[in-house]
Amino acid sequence: MSGVLKQGIENDRPKINAKTAIAKKVDSLLAIMTLEEKVGQMNLYNGFWDSTGPAPKEGNAKTKYEHLQKGWVGAMLNVRGVASVRKIQKIAVEETRLGIPLLFGYDVIHGYKTISPIPLAEAASWDMAAIEKSARVAAIEASAAGINWTFAPMVDISRDARWGRVMEGAGEDPYYGSHVAVARVQGFQGTDLTLPNTIAACAKHFAAYGFVEAGRDYNTVSIGNETLYNTVLPPFKAAVDSDIKTVMNAFNDLNGVTATGDQFLQRDVLKNAWGFNGFVVSDWASVTEIIYWGQAKDKAEAAVLAANAGCDMDMEGHVYIEQLANMIKADKVKEALLDDAVRRILTVKYELGLFDNPYRYCNEQLEKEQIGSVEHHAAALDMAKKSIVLLKNETKLLPLKKKGQKIALIGQLAADKNSPLGNWRLAADDDTAISVLEGLQNHTNSNSLTYTKGVDVFMGKTNFVTEVTVNETDATGIKDAVKAAKNADVVIMVLGEHGYQSGEARSRTELDLPGLQQEMLEAVYKVNKNIVLVLNNGRPLALPWAEKHIPTIVEAWQLGTQTGNAVAQVLYGDYNPSGKLPVTFPRSVGQVPLYYNYKMTGRSTNNEGNVFWSHYIDEKNTPLFPFGHGLSYTTFKYDNLTIDKKSVSVDDSIKVSVTLTNTGNYDGSEVAQLYIRDVVGSLVRPVKELKGFELVHLKKGESKTVQFTLGKKELGFYNNKGEYLVEPGDFEIMVGGSSETVLKSRFVLD
Ligand code: NOJ
Repeated sequence: MSGVLKQGIENDRPKINAKTAIAKKVDSLLAIMTLEEKVGQMNLYNGFWDSTGPAPKEGNAKTKYEHLQKGWVGAMLNVRGVASVRKIQKIAVEETRLGIPLLFGYDVIHGYKTISPIPLAEAASWDMAAIEKSARVAAIEASAAGINWTFAPMVDISRDARWGRVMEGAGEDPYYGSHVAVARVQGFQGTDLTLPNTIAACAKHFAAYGFVEAGRDYNTVSIGNETLYNTVLPPFKAAVDSDIKTVMNAFNDLNGVTATGDQFLQRDVLKNAWGFNGFVVSDWASVTEIIYWGQAKDKAEAAVLAANAGCDMDMEGHVYIEQLANMIKADKVKEALLDDAVRRILTVKYELGLFDNPYRYCNEQLEKEQIGSVEHHAAALDMAKKSIVLLKNETKLLPLKKKGQKIALIGQLAADKNSPLGNWRLAADDDTAISVLEGLQNHTNSNSLTYTKGVDVFMGKTNFVTEVTVNETDATGIKDAVKAAKNADVVIMVLGEHGYQSGEARSRTELDLPGLQQEMLEAVYKVNKNIVLVLNNGRPLALPWAEKHIPTIVEAWQLGTQTGNAVAQVLYGDYNPSGKLPVTFPRSVGQVPLYYNYKMTGRSTNNEGNVFWSHYIDEKNTPLFPFGHGLSYTTFKYDNLTIDKKSVSVDDSIKVSVTLTNTGNYDGSEVAQLYIRDVVGSLVRPVKELKGFELVHLKKGESKTVQFTLGKKELGFYNNKGEYLVEPGDFEIMVGGSSETVLKSRFVLD
């Protein structure tokens, strides 16, 4: 037996023993619980102050307290801070009959107090270690504030830039999204869940929420099985395989069945086929919403549908706690199913070590020391730099010279300290981001920097539950911007969306620069063409004019607490950008959904020269910036693409290698990407599919051989019955620095 194997077995043994021991404890506890206490474990209440959904119409604070005292609550959300968590945990532990501790859930999505880049931005780093670290830091801070459960990672694949929650995921690709999902789960949960700084993670939203029709949030979803199995489900499966403890279902329906009431998704696929043994939590009141969807006539029916379907916990819906006990008595839900749900919830509580010490996450000292530590800010800065994507650098305006340049910084967002925190930053204090203006001031000693707000874009103060008001009419600030630009060597314009213009319930029908920013950009361009456009946005934007005219474009998303420092380091070349887009940027909103792994149609090319092919009469089919695109201050060359076999059997694997050389004048990092095409399939296959990537650091002049392995896991696909097929035939291989790759080869699978 090899050392590695032996070690694996030894390491597994305590885990298996611990699992059995927990199962025994859970069974003994379950045996003494009343029906109401069991239902109580399935009840998740919002706390009494922060709210992350519509305010409940019923269930006031008094009722919640009474339910807590009776042991009719299994978990709380939006209760944070050691003092508050301790106070509520004390009720559960000391005042209820069985003293079962509560879970405390919170949307720790991109940081807790120290805010890292929005998840889509982090995904642009293609750096799994950095993404894992970012989630680790978030878990350390959240756990120090009493939280033991995060409602993250969001692993919804989306191809629709109109949908505001694109900002919260890892983009459009299932293979890449699966890797990011695993990194995030590992970051939150760590290697040992009983440690006081690891927390349970939650893959959401199960399933297909990213495919809401027309990109409008909470809308209906109709997709075929092929898309469900090959595009939607893989990141969830990857999260389950990395032992994620919880899964959240979704607000949408899927082909006419509400996800919360979907037995196929929750029982057949998740729990039975995949063997998921954690628990499923509803989304905010999504059990109640089954009634509004018209799939249940009242709360009783909604409770029955959801519980039978496999939804184990009701988030702020108040439906289970009101209805489920009666429905069990009426035999509408089998008690065995109820026991299964409660067993799953109690198991997670045991696994977190809450029965050993319910106050495990309540340490004032840690709370003071950990939250906002210097180390966490350093990690946030590192992540922010890695998330920036250099989209265009045609005239080599970047990096900026260290001295002798007159720089005009323009744009309301450039001085904004709130917007860069992004959407999900509930625990962060307002206005705590380092703005781009501050970042540049920190960096610019010898250059002269002037700041001009230019046109007003965002009016008044916005927050998590209100709409952003945009100025569409008052153009007076444009002339200030033009004046400032006239006197500058370089103009840096920070334009884009406010952090609260993407995220939940923030769908858009336009993908342009909100307000009068486009007008200002064009007016400035007339007097000074040396523009560096720094984009802030939580979704792909369609900016064809900018792509055509502006020589330098930097995608800076919303980068969190350290935004300004990260942007300044990249603009000045102290950090060489290496990010790559995890989403396709369209030319026009009319192209959406636009994604790189589209399918060939019967009429994809204009062979005949007539109009009868799959195209638009007013726009190209191609994207503005493709998936995987991102430049560096240096250049990279790909050559010597080799595969070790020209034909391979279905059970074997092939090795693909390529030489990557840094041919420019700076050290830098490049994400080498490998795509395949299954040329002929029993189902139509995408024109390309990402199946490998590696982030490689190369000093200038340095070369490295990058190697990828392709086997069954990479070469197959799911058919419409959910069966995984690996079909013999021709495969194309494409390797390069974006989805518009440079090198090609082929092999045969036989
Ligand atoms: C609704 C969102 O869809 C979900 O992602 C979030 O975790 C819950 N609200 C709780 O805040």
